[in-house]
Amino acid sequence: MEEKIKQYRLLFVCLGNICRSPSAEGIMKHYVERKGVSDRFFIDSAGTYGGHAGALPDERMRRHAARRGYELTSRSRQFYPSADFEQFDLIICMDSQNVANVKAMCVNEQESKKIVKMTDFSKNYRLYNEVPDPYYGGEAGFELVLDLLEDATQGLYEYLMR
Ligand code: 4NP
Repeated sequence: MEEKIKQYRLLFVCLGNICRSPSAEGIMKHYVERKGVSDRFFIDSAGTYGGHAGALPDERMRRHAARRGYELTSRSRQFYPSADFEQFDLIICMDSQNVANVKAMCVNEQESKKIVKMTDFSKNYRLYNEVPDPYYGGEAGFELVLDLLEDATQGLYEYLMR
C-alpha cells in the first residue's frame, strides 16, 4: 500500500496581509518549488486586520520582491480563527503583536501550540526577534523584510524536514 506522505500546511500571518505575510508566502512557495517538493506543502497567508481584504500586496513590496525573482499575486484576507486553526499545522506570525492577536483568538492548547514567530527560524539574523512592519517606513524596510524572510524560510524548511 502506498504510504501517505505528510503535507505541511503553513499559514503566514501579519497585520494587513499586504506586505510581510504575502512575501513570506511567496518566498516559501518559491523555495519548495525549487526543492521539487511543492506537493508536500499547502501555503497561504492572512492578516489579523481585515481592512485590506481583496487587495494585492502593497506595490512597494511587490516591486522589491520582483527584483529578487518573487512574483506576489496573493489577495489579502483576514485571519479566520475557526477555519484557520483547524486547517493549518503552523500559524507563523511576523511579529509579537501578531502572536498576541492570534493567541487571543485560540480556544485551546492544541490551537495555541500551532502559533510560532517567523524569526524563531532565523539562521543568520538571530538579532531580530520580529520581522518589522515596513508599511510606514522607507525602501530599506522592504529590503530588510525580504532579507529576514529569505533567511528564516531556509530555517523553517530545515526544521520541518528534520
Ligand atoms: P503588513 O503591513 O502587516 O506587513 O501587511 C501593514 C499593512 C497595512 C497596515 C499596516 C501594516 N495598515 O496600517 O494599514
